[in-house]
Amino acid sequence: MTLNLIPVTAQDYRGLARKRLPRNLFDYIDGGAYTETTLAANVNDFETIQLKQRVMRDISSVNTSTKLFGETLDMPLVLAPIGLAGMMARRGEVQAVKAAGAANIPFCLSTVSICSVEEVAEAAKKPFWFQLYMMRDRGYVKALLARAKRAGCKNLVFTVDLAVVGARYRDMRNGMAGGLNPWGKFRAALEYPLHPAWLFDVGIKGKPHMFGNLSNLVPNAKSITDFKNWIDEQFDPSCTWKDIEWLRDIWDGNLIIKGILCPEDAKSAVSAGADAIVISNHGGRQLDGVSSGIAMTPRIKDTLGDTTTILMDGGVRSGQDIIKAVASGADAVLMGRPWVWTLAAKGQAGLETYLNTIKSEMRVSMALTGTTNVSELNQKIFDTG
Ligand SMILES: Cc1cc2nc3c(=O)[nH]c(=O)nc-3n(C[C@H](O)[C@H](O)[C@H](O)COP(=O)(O)O)c2cc1C
Repeated sequence: MTLNLIPVTAQDYRGLARKRLPRNLFDYIDGGAYTETTLAANVNDFETIQLKQRVMRDISSVNTSTKLFGETLDMPLVLAPIGLAGMMARRGEVQAVKAAGAANIPFCLSTVSICSVEEVAEAAKKPFWFQLYMMRDRGYVKALLARAKRAGCKNLVFTVDLAVVGARYRDMRNGMAGGLNPWGKFRAALEYPLHPAWLFDVGIKGKPHMFGNLSNLVPNAKSITDFKNWIDEQFDPSCTWKDIEWLRDIWDGNLIIKGILCPEDAKSAVSAGADAIVISNHGGRQLDGVSSGIAMTPRIKDTLGDTTTILMDGGVRSGQDIIKAVASGADAVLMGRPWVWTLAAKGQAGLETYLNTIKSEMRVSMALTGTTNVSELNQKIFDTG
């Protein structure tokens, strides 16, 4: 039995977040769609990849840095867009952009963040990325992108795997999707006094709890649920590759299409003019039963070759996962849940520590596989038997 005095891994922070957060919020981050098979596969498929130990090479200088869209990053990692992160930690997106800045990696702000692009821009030391969901009201999309541009964003992540929202049973059980009867409301309200640290720090001092990028569009919204209902009506299920042309006309920065999970769609994204794709199943929150991001990475890389920048996400929990993803064909990875668990548990300082841990895991794993540079990471580091 260990003392467990200091959290180190993503799982350690997850355990702390579970204790600190009201149940519905913890489940909202933690859960996936249906039976959560894909959510589990995202993590498990990383574990099945065996590395090959190499010795007697000069590994006195190991460099984890990489270039992405012309920018040098300390490691090939981006903090993924996560809706409602500001409900998990006080002004969560502001804390996250600061921690990402300290680690010299990009932070991507979700359309449905609590803090607005302007609030995040004020705290950011360098440009952050912005993520877009296509809404029926194209005027709103145009205005939002203009705000992101003014806030200094150069990289737009356009998420295409949420044409309809996946059925997340934990959210349904908790009344986050579909509402509650009076007893349910009473039981849910009890969660707040049961989690006083969160209640004081985020519930009271972390206000306003609104979708910062949408507050002017839903002026009558009184709660997050009102916003959520509006957004669910606004997602545009008729969106096709043709809409990329329209986006291209109004966005002159990099366009990164997120939510690609098969070679055919990857080719379509490149033909439509994407500067990059993110291989992703939305962290197992959309179509349960699909392949993991890491399983699809080499297949999509084989199809696209070097024609475009390839990012991937789903299940990245450590520096070792990052080197496995890069060796499988990704130029960089996005990480979702772990940054929110860490922030919920220990705030910005905790996230900074965790990102440092990830970098040192990368460095050690690269050294022990005999690699000194990110550009050298390829399938040779795998033990394929
Ligand atoms: C709680 C939660 C909220 C999310 N919100 C968004 C979002 O607003 N926009 C988006 O493009 N992806 C969103 N995602 C998906 C993440 O960007 C990312 O694809 C996924 O979390 C990666 O898997 P991982 O959590 O295993 O790292 C969300 C994921 C979670 C867990």
